[in-house]
Amino acid sequence: MNQNELKEAVGRAAIQYVPDDCIVGVGTGSTANYFIDALGEIKGRIQGAVSSSVASIERLKKHGIPVYDLNAVDRIPVYVDGADEINRQLQMIKGGGAALTREKIVAAVADQFVCICDESKLVDVLGKFPLPVEVIPMARSYVARELVKLGGHPVYREGVVTDNGNVILDVHGLQITEANKLETAINEIVGVVTNGIFAHRRADVLLLGTADGVKTFK
Ligand code: 5RP
Repeated sequence: MNQNELKEAVGRAAIQYVPDDCIVGVGTGSTANYFIDALGEIKGRIQGAVSSSVASIERLKKHGIPVYDLNAVDRIPVYVDGADEINRQLQMIKGGGAALTREKIVAAVADQFVCICDESKLVDVLGKFPLPVEVIPMARSYVARELVKLGGHPVYREGVVTDNGNVILDVHGLQITEANKLETAINEIVGVVTNGIFAHRRADVLLLGTADGVKTFK
């Protein structure tokens, strides 16, 4: 199977975690898109979805799936999303698609986070994928200097504005061995909206697409 087929397999496999009559949390990216397409096939048994990006909202609506504002919803039993990297503790780097802040918010509300990835995303140590940090535009240079003090090499993602009107710094050169600690430290820099380490709210389940089929890690 090629990478897209692995992504499609995990997107389909995640449907088993979606309870009847629920409002499901939906992530962002090419793997999440396969989940949305699979959700379209069973839309009659769910109430609707809350989404982490404008792009995913549009795709959900194309499938005729009702999309709710998070403020109108008091419970999300499951959130399904991809990742840029995931380790064996199910801590992740996310934000390659610049949707990290809304992803973190919807994941925080959800009872269960199901991460769907092809096997290229599983790593021993997080950090080879540059860590996305969403920043208030006027704080960009200050935050970049503070990130250098933490040992990283921030690069401004030119031409990208997040759904929240902010900018992204991609931090290269990190070896993230203490993910909880670094997630907190970066979030304490004034001007940071959030960073793409998902350690305090890691995944509960990983569905990993491999050549031998979909493997489940908990
Ligand atoms: C978007 C994300 C995505 O989940 C992440 O980038 C993975 O995307 P893909 O499934 O396309 O590889 O965090 O902000």
